Amino acid sequence: MADATSHQSTETRFSRRSLIALADLSSDEIRSLLSSARDMVDAAAWPGAARTDLAGHSVGTLFFEDSTRTRSSFTLAAQRMGAHVVDCSGAGTSVSKGETIVDTALTIESMGVSALVVRCTPEDGVRAVADAVQCAVISAGAGAGEHPTQGLLDCLTIAREFDRDDAFDFSGLRLLIVGDLAHSRVAGSAVVGFTKLGGEVICCCPEEMTPGPPMASSLTIERDLDRVIQDVDIVMMLRIQMERGADPGSMNAYTKAYQLDARRAALMRDDAIVMHPGPMNREVEIASEVADGPRSRIWTQVRLGVPVRMAALLHCIQSTT
Ligand code: NCD
Repeated sequence: MADATSHQSTETRFSRRSLIALADLSSDEIRSLLSSARDMVDAAAWPGAARTDLAGHSVGTLFFEDSTRTRSSFTLAAQRMGAHVVDCSGAGTSVSKGETIVDTALTIESMGVSALVVRCTPEDGVRAVADAVQCAVISAGAGAGEHPTQGLLDCLTIAREFDRDDAFDFSGLRLLIVGDLAHSRVAGSAVVGFTKLGGEVICCCPEEMTPGPPMASSLTIERDLDRVIQDVDIVMMLRIQMERGADPGSMNAYTKAYQLDARRAALMRDDAIVMHPGPMNREVEIASEVADGPRSRIWTQVRLGVPVRMAALLHCIQSTT
C-alpha cells in the first residue's frame, strides 16, 4: 500500500449536494470521493483520531427498508465527523400512516438537518427526495437500482488490496459478480464504479437473474462458474433478492451451479479475493469455509464503509454551505 504522503491529488473534486447514483458521477469525481475516504481510514477506525469537520451539523437517517451495516455505518460516520444523528426509520414512523417518503423527508428537514440519508424501495425515491429538499441527500440504496456508497466501499476495498489506492486506476483488474444481478443494487453500483475506474466486469448468473439494460451493455455474461472463476482477480457473491421477486427455481440446482464453495475457491488465482456485501445467506450463495477463509475480504468491506460514508457526508454537506 502506498505511503499516505505520496498520494496524488485528484483533479476534480466531488462537490455535489446529493449522492444518488455512481452513474451520475465522472470517474474523477469517484476518484475524489475515494481519495477522501482513503485519507479518513484512520479517523474512522480510531476514536482518538475522530474529526470535527461536521460539528454542529445534524444528519437524519431515513430507512424505509431493513438495514444493519449501512444504517450503523452512516451513523458512526456522522458521529466520527462530529455530527449528531436523528434516526427516523420505516416501522414506527408516519409512513405507516400513509405519509409519503418525500413528506417524511421534508418533515425531518424542517427540524434543521444538514443531510438526509435515505433508503427506500422505489428506484427513483431518493432522487425525488433530493428534488424536494434543500439539504444534502445521500442514497443508502434505492430498490434494485443503485447503492452508491456500497459501490464506493467495494472500490476502496479493491484499491487497497491491489495497491491501486493512489491513482484509483483499475485497468487490468477483472471483477466477477456472481448471482442475482437482475435485482441487486449492489451490483448496479459495483458495475458502474468498477468500469468507470477502468476495470473489467464479468457476470455469472442463471438466465433469470441476468441484468437488463443499461447494466448489461457493459458486461460479459457467463454461465459456467468453474471456468470463469479461474481468470479473475475479485469474486463478488450476491444474495438472492427474494423480496424483489427473484426466483431461483430449485435451490439445489442453484447452489450446485453458483455457490462459492471450497472446491471452487481452490480454482481461483493465488492472489484473488472474495467479497460479499452482506447480509450473507451462508451455504446458499457462499459456503462458510469460504466466507470465513483466507480469501475473504467481507469484514474489510464492512470496515471501509465508515470512511466512505464520512467522505460522502463531508463532501455533500460542504457543497451546501
Ligand atoms: C445490501 C442491500 O441492502 O442492498 N446490503 C448492504 O447494504 N450491504 C445487499 C443485500 O441486501 O443483499
